[in-house]
Amino acid sequence: MTPLLERIRDLIRMEGPIPVSVFMTLCLHDPEHGYYASNPGIGRDFQTAPEISQVFGELLGLWAAHEWIGMGSPETIFLVEPGPGRGVMMDDMLRAAKVAPGFIDALRPVLIEASPVLAGVQAQKLASYNPIGVRQLSAAPDGPFILIANEFLDCLPIRQYVRDETGWAERCIGLSTTGDLTFGRSPSPDPPDAPDGADQLERAPGMAGLISELSERFARGPGRALFIDYGPPAYSPGDTLRAYRDGRQADPLSEPGRCDLTADVDFSHLARLAEAAGLRVDGPTSQGDFLLRLGFAERCARLSARAGARADPVQRAAMRLVDPLDMGSRFQAICLSPGSAGAPAGF
Ligand SMILES: C[S@@+](CC[C@H](N)C(=O)[O-])C[C@H]1O[C@@H](n2cnc3c(N)ncnc32)[C@H](O)[C@@H]1O
Repeated sequence: MTPLLERIRDLIRMEGPIPVSVFMTLCLHDPEHGYYASNPGIGRDFQTAPEISQVFGELLGLWAAHEWIGMGSPETIFLVEPGPGRGVMMDDMLRAAKVAPGFIDALRPVLIEASPVLAGVQAQKLASYNPIGVRQLSAAPDGPFILIANEFLDCLPIRQYVRDETGWAERCIGLSTTGDLTFGRSPSPDPPDAPDGADQLERAPGMAGLISELSERFARGPGRALFIDYGPPAYSPGDTLRAYRDGRQADPLSEPGRCDLTADVDFSHLARLAEAAGLRVDGPTSQGDFLLRLGFAERCARLSARAGARADPVQRAAMRLVDPLDMGSRFQAICLSPGSAGAPAGF
């Protein structure tokens, strides 16, 4: 029994079944017992691309330098990372960015982090770059920016909808007769933007807010927003809510606040929202293809040559990022830009 489980049971007893999005928000961000607030386990519960190989962040740092030049090399550029975890990707990006001296001089890192624990880890790791730390994008400084997020969108709480012969219902969490958390359904109005013929749908309400914040920023000046995350490139019905603990998948209802909760990103929905807001959308393209187009093979060869006796494990770890049977195809990259912008590299 976790302390959060008791609180969620009380909430359901008082207010009735709660949507999956409310459950996810409590499990991830409850200030006292939420997973990210109290006990985030990057590396322990799950592994991410920047933690697997430095090639990932380095290529993204070079990509950012290239896009900065494409914007006309503005004097100040904010390199914005939502959900920077332990700060590994930002560290690798900044180290690689030093090959473009004008870029590193113009650059101000901005870290958007909801978890006070991880914000502390990031501040320590990146102290020499004097990063700006904020809790949400709306609080980031205004100006030309390049936003890069890895495994951020999959943390946005989702609502789940299911359709049967009586119409749409929302998947909710209530209590069984024995007092355990259990999934059920509540009647629901039609979910927003359901593709024709869809009978299951997941929607992250936070995505619309993110797109509207980005489009306001793009209206004020140049920018790029690159998201890398897991999920199929096109709509694929299913229940993708998952929990991870100690590197294994767990029952999402079993230990609220002790497991990471995540869901596939619906890239087609993200693209539709962005296009409706007048943004340029490039991708989604598979992470493997994206990294290969950015020079993965050359970077990897150089890293292996420097690794000496460790060349094999270094190479094997990096290859996971592009392997079509591994992260290369499970993860997608998508880039959003102002409607008037040209094509970014890598797509
Ligand atoms: C799965 S981890 C990924 C960490 C890192 N990007 C990486 O690839 O290693 C998710 C990150 O997003 C942060 N996060 C989750 N939801 C957030 C939110 N709504 N606002 C800001 N940060 C959030 C978490 O605290 C964590 O740093």
